[in-house]
Amino acid sequence: MGSGIAEVCAKAGYETFVREVDEKALDGGRRRIENSLSKAIERGKLTAADGEAIRKRLRFSSSFAEIFSSDLVIEAIVESLSAKCEVFEALDKSCAPHAIFCSNTSSLAIAEMAAATARPDRFAGLHFFNPVPVMKLVEVVRAIGTSEETVARVTAFARSLGKEPIAARDNSGFVVNRLLVPFLLDAIRAHEQGVGSLEDIDTGMKLGCAHPMGPFELLDYVGLDTVYAIAEIMFAEYREARFAPPPLLKRMVIAGRFGRKTGRGFYEYDERGDRRR
Ligand code: CAA
Repeated sequence: MGSGIAEVCAKAGYETFVREVDEKALDGGRRRIENSLSKAIERGKLTAADGEAIRKRLRFSSSFAEIFSSDLVIEAIVESLSAKCEVFEALDKSCAPHAIFCSNTSSLAIAEMAAATARPDRFAGLHFFNPVPVMKLVEVVRAIGTSEETVARVTAFARSLGKEPIAARDNSGFVVNRLLVPFLLDAIRAHEQGVGSLEDIDTGMKLGCAHPMGPFELLDYVGLDTVYAIAEIMFAEYREARFAPPPLLKRMVIAGRFGRKTGRGFYEYDERGDRRR
């Protein structure tokens, strides 16, 4: 999601520094942004001059040094509390005292990450949705120590990106995943229990409820590894059966069937991510 977040920030006029773990990951992010910008220019949604200005506002690096002068930092790394805390602890020492830290986590507690820094008042959740350039929603998450001023500034920032912010409490899954994850897991359980085929369940929810994607299309799109990780975190927080990952999901993740990104999940995909069957 990092590349999508960087793209919308640069599009909104912000000087944007992107930090990735290594050159390979940086190349991947750069390519995704480039593809998205060229497609927008081809379709006449963006002028070539605006595209060039956006490219100039983006800087890529595998070092943290570039972001030490940023006013706002948005973390979108792997969904691991220890990895996130490690990054924030390091940034806290070198970033400006006024800088606000945000996490794009979908299920971890913002308070736990804030506790790894000396700025819990300037720490909030800023949760985007996939695909970031298209989805209008952003959840602004107030943790136990987040100040009013930080909530107001992060909310204004989200609006300046052209997004519609909603306020959410720092409970695992916030608003959207609290409702979406049990629905996706229940679709897997329904399929396991023989309620319907993958295609029929997907068609049911698309044509019966006007969802843009059926639950299995969405699971493959978000990534089964990601949904599994989120479900485990939510189950650990709430200890309610509806958040427990079903056995089939766990086995698919063990088998490396993560969805679109690995070419196979509930459905199969070609190299371009288009559905084979
Ligand atoms: N980047 C930029 N633009 C994109 C894009 C991307 N990755 N993917 C699609 N678009 C644009 C297309 O260019 C197109 O724009 P125009 O209409 O202006 O031409 C528009 O979006 C529609 O795309 P398509 O015609 O290719 O395909 P579609 O109509 O089937 O829409 C979709 C694709 C927007 C992904 C739609 O299927 C959808 O809304 N799906 C549901 C997505 C969803 O539920 N997201 C939330 C996931 S949960 C999450 O993210 C949170 C979490 O923590 C797990």
